[in-house]
Parts: sequence; C-alpha cells; structure tokens
Amino acid sequence: MQEAGLEVSRDEAGNLFGRRGAACVWSGSHLDTVPNGGRFDGALGVVVAIEAAGRLRDTELGVVAFRAEETGPMGSRRLAELPDAFVEVHIEQGPVLELLGEPLGIVTGIAGQVRGTVTFEGRAAHAGTTPIDERADALIEAAKFVLHVRESARDGGLATVGALEVVPGATNVVPERVTVSVDVRAPTADGLEKLIEAIGFEPTWRQDPIGMSGPPLEALRAVLPGAPELVSGAGHDAMVLAAAGVPTAMLFVRSLNGGASHSPNELSSAEDIALAVDVLTEALALVEANRLSALPEHERP
Ligand code: GLV
Ligand code: MN
Ligand code: MN
Repeated sequence: MQEAGLEVSRDEAGNLFGRRGAACVWSGSHLDTVPNGGRFDGALGVVVAIEAAGRLRDTELGVVAFRAEETGPMGSRRLAELPDAFVEVHIEQGPVLELLGEPLGIVTGIAGQVRGTVTFEGRAAHAGTTPIDERADALIEAAKFVLHVRESARDGGLATVGALEVVPGATNVVPERVTVSVDVRAPTADGLEKLIEAIGFEPTWRQDPIGMSGPPLEALRAVLPGAPELVSGAGHDAMVLAAAGVPTAMLFVRSLNGGASHSPNELSSAEDIALAVDVLTEALALVEANRLSALPEHERP
C-alpha cells in the first residue's frame, strides 16, 4: 500500500486501510482464509486493488484489506461509514467462467446465507461396558440431523454441516454432547426462510440476498461491455457493504481447476489477473470521475 502511495492505517477490528486523499471510492477484499484454503480467495482482491491504486496516482481512493470475512463478514461493516462506492475483485470460486471461456465476469447479486449451531445432549459412558440400548449417544442424534440438513436443501438452496464438536471426543467414551455447525444459502429471502424452517434451527448470523447496484455496477458494465453476468453463491465483504446501502459491485476472475475453492487447488492465471487489474483501474477511475462531476462546482477539488 505504501509503494502505491497510500496512507496506511488500521482500525481496532484489525482492518487495514490505504487511503489517498478523501477516498470516497474503495476497493479491496479480505486476507483471512478457511483452514487449508487456497491462495486467491480474498487475497486476490486486495492485491488487485493495490495494483490499481498504484496506477491511479492522481485519483483519491481507498484500498482495504478486511479482517475476518470467512467467519461471517465482520470487518466490512466498518467501511460502510466511509465510501460512496465499493468495488471488490474476487476469484469466482466456481466453474462458470471457465466453462464459458471468459476471463472475467460481473456479479449482479449475492445469495443470502445464514449460519448457526445446533447442540445435542447425551450421556457420557464407557464404550466397553455400556450396552447399546442403555446409551444416550449425542453423536447418533447429531448424525441423523446431518442427514436431515442435507435432505432439506431443495429448490436452488444449499445446506451444509461443515464442523462437529464432539465432547469429550475420546475413542472409548460414548459422546456426551455434540455441536453441529449449519450453513444455509439461497438466492431469495423466501427460499432462505423455507430452508431454515425445514431444517428447524435458530440462525445466529444472517445476510439476506442482495443485488449489486449503482455507479460501480454501471462502471464495470461500461468497461467490460458484453461480459458475462453472474450471481454469487459465496458470501463476500461486498454483500455487507451493499446491505448497508453502499453502491457496490464485484468483478469475478475466472477460477481454473473446475472452480476449486476453499481448497489448495484454487487457481487463477496471471493473464486473467492482469486483465482484472486493467478493468478495476478503469472502473475506479470512472466511478471517481463521475462522482466528482456530480458534485456542485464549489465542492470539487
Ligand atoms: C465465504 O467464503 C463464504 O462462505 O461464502
Ligand atoms: Mn472470499
Ligand atoms: Mn472464502
């Protein structure tokens, strides 16, 4: 960020900001990853934004590296107070652009998602002495629930159990307590609600489906006419900003390896990334130029 001529700061949430001047137009993404994740999910959007900022030395803008996106975007809430516009570049994390033979795509919306946990209580007992019929095995109930979650996912919705906590978690003890994570996604708010009801759990975090809009989306369409338009099934910092009322857009970079993501096989090519830098640079310049020209004359720098 310093090499790109940005003034660097950090907030108490751990977000890293690079600013030039008033910085009403922002780009960036997150730096955290899932366990054993790839190198592109998040970091790509930070690097591309810094590159674009380095080319736009005469433009006031900001670059952000968000904290803690994967845990249900938290860091991104803070930026909503600053920008008039946000553009996030991200690896697609799916196979669509690779199948279309297109390097870049414009995101028009992001699916809704909720997360939560469900806990099953049983009774700890000795694995070698407690008859099967005498057990209250929390993991058996949790296992039935995992299958129920999978069977509930219908009509374009998705539901996933990705983590189990088994207590006490020993080979020779009947499980006493199991906590199951639940991740539910759907392209519509109605679909999301139906899935939550079918699964029967209480989400602790939610983000409704949201559309991309305003000058950032128009700028991407102007810079990349005819580009494929996609809806993102993955969540992004962009959805938090869009939900907070910030005009927000996203540019997807083609995923290789069949769209592998949240895995070490995640990959985008250097050529596609270079193209994304070109497009983001033009789009940010356009958004800022249009923003300035819409200001009353006495407010322009
Ligand atoms: C972010 O990676 C998500 O889980 O959608
Ligand atoms: Mn991401
Ligand atoms: Mn991710």
